[in-house]
Amino acid sequence: MKQRRIPSDEAYAGLRAYLTGRKAKKIFLVCGQSFSGLRIAPFFDRLELQTGICVTKFQQFEPNPQYGSVVEGVRRFRESGSDFIVAVGGGSAMDVAKCIKLFSGLSDEECYLKQRAAPNDIGLLAIPTTAGSGSEATKFAVVYFEGEKQSVSEESCMPQAVLLDARLLETLPPLQRTATALDALCHAVESFWSVNATEESKRLSKAALGLILKNWDAYLFNDGQGNQKMLYAAHLAGQAINLAQTTAGHAMCYQLTSRYGLPHGCAAALCLSKAWLHMVRHPMACRDARGEPYLRKTLAELAEAMGQSRAEEAAKWLDGFVKSLRLPLPEASPREAAWLRDSVNQARLRNHPVRLDADALESLYRQILQLEEEG
Ligand SMILES: [Fe+2]
Repeated sequence: MKQRRIPSDEAYAGLRAYLTGRKAKKIFLVCGQSFSGLRIAPFFDRLELQTGICVTKFQQFEPNPQYGSVVEGVRRFRESGSDFIVAVGGGSAMDVAKCIKLFSGLSDEECYLKQRAAPNDIGLLAIPTTAGSGSEATKFAVVYFEGEKQSVSEESCMPQAVLLDARLLETLPPLQRTATALDALCHAVESFWSVNATEESKRLSKAALGLILKNWDAYLFNDGQGNQKMLYAAHLAGQAINLAQTTAGHAMCYQLTSRYGLPHGCAAALCLSKAWLHMVRHPMACRDARGEPYLRKTLAELAEAMGQSRAEEAAKWLDGFVKSLRLPLPEASPREAAWLRDSVNQARLRNHPVRLDADALESLYRQILQLEEEG
């Protein structure tokens, strides 16, 4: 499915034209708690008056959305009689909106996550308010069920349309700005070396990476151009992971967020920086079907895309860069490194081009937690 890109303009005339053109009658608006402070909020507040399209807001979900919140969202969606879903927010709002769309066609008699997904034609429009998750460009959604992260992957979760409006990033606080940009950086790097990478996904990853590195400072300083470029870069990186998926950085990072509260992008970058150094030193453990020469070539291409002369220099650069950000690190004991080793998402780990056994994983966690030096 080709995703439609709605033009962003001062008064959201393009958005209004899209919604009326789609003949939407009732919109279910999934948005975060900070929605009312966004410049797009008055557009939806006045939509019914201007076009006759009713809007039902749904904001009762948490940053790492729980299954119960999604179930409530499905109930409210059906009750409202809405025929179209709009997600405005970061990755969590997108996840919730995708799940509501997907689950609304399923039976209430059984857990939605256990049922076979049935595609439906409910419209889904994504309007990201962070430059990070790239979720507006993917078929994936995440929801937490009984404390465990559950990944949903369905073609019909892909939003049919997207509006990229960099002005919505103006109110992002500094830590969230850094964390989301790190998430986009990890998406670009991991999708580039993923065992699922294709020529197309690598082209997208490379384009995203170039934009992220070039516009990092401007974005952190909340410059308008910087916001625009970073938003687009995160979108491209989202398109790349939609094709190639993420690898060790994401396979290893989730418990650093749920157990210690580290923002997702910070956790992913900490894991990626150590996994990258390990990979350039162990290419002989290659698991990519294209073989070790291909992996070495990919790592060299990645280094070149980052303006570094060798694969190891690129890995060291990221490690130094992440250290320079002085991200908040949890106080953890060696026993917790072993616990984290056993919590790794094995499905994602299989996308990593180098095999990581239990000893390697535990060693990487000890490095991340600064319990040992990298070897
Ligand atoms: Fe991510």
